[in-house]
Amino acid sequence: MIEALKLLEVITHVQMARNRGETIGFVPTMGALHDGHISLVNKALTEFHWVVSSIFVNPTQFNDPKDLLHYPRTPDSDWNLLEQAGCHLLFHPSVAEIYPEGFESPVFEFGSLEQIMEGAYRPGHFKGVATVVFRLFDIVKPDVAYFGEKDFQQLAIIRSMVHQAGLPIRIIGCETVREIDGLAMSSRNVRLSPDERKAAPIIFQNLSKAKELIQAIGIERAKNEMIGAIETSGLFKVEYLEIADAESLEPVKSISKETKSRVFIAVKASTTRLIDNMELF
Ligand code: PAJ
Repeated sequence: MIEALKLLEVITHVQMARNRGETIGFVPTMGALHDGHISLVNKALTEFHWVVSSIFVNPTQFNDPKDLLHYPRTPDSDWNLLEQAGCHLLFHPSVAEIYPEGFESPVFEFGSLEQIMEGAYRPGHFKGVATVVFRLFDIVKPDVAYFGEKDFQQLAIIRSMVHQAGLPIRIIGCETVREIDGLAMSSRNVRLSPDERKAAPIIFQNLSKAKELIQAIGIERAKNEMIGAIETSGLFKVEYLEIADAESLEPVKSISKETKSRVFIAVKASTTRLIDNMELF
């Protein structure tokens, strides 16, 4: 039976699990859970960890107050999904538990990693993510933590934060889980209008053909062609579409088997933003 506990109880239960010789796997989330989140829990379970998941809609990572206000919250369904998956402990903290009076985050420097792509469109977002994940790690003290490649730039930020803070935590990136029509699962998908939802697989379709298109006509023309295709319906505006190195996330001028690169995209629909990315080589 999964338990949802207060901060001090969480610390005690994790310590008890550790005393039993268990290793701790951790899956931080903001709730409104879907199969993408559950795939991370499953991955942690298949690696034989005692699995803790957290649900915390972190105010400091929302640069848009309307996005925070409308962020979907589905606690009952979240609870059921985690229970069915076999997650061992749910941490659902209050804002005061995560940010007690006088709380000071260590200072992290991410350089251009926090200024490009998502960083450019969401100022302060990644500092907020790094701070909350650092705080959650400090409470749960996991051996291993699981994050989705769906948020590939966030994954890079977290790896850098762990490195800068010298934390003994292994970070595992997990593949993006998609709807049958290819749309990357996201808590925000429920905010798409029926027309937008129907048209949204155009994003996946274009990312899927990016590699062949770039090989045929080069990066710049391929980008323009994909942006045009995604925007044709008039329902979406592409905020950025970048071909970038999979390590540094800096834009590349060409792609080849020798260097790993990915395509990254953010698309604005009427009331919500969708992001996605895919490996090219
Ligand atoms: P949230 O958007 O709830 O996502 C929690 C985790 O689930 C993240 O690691 C995210 O990359 C992963 N995830 C989301 N959609 C996925 C999909 N379709 N397939 C695979 N994994 C997916 O990301 C956050 O919350 C927050 O920024 C957080 C890290 C919890 C810090 O507040």
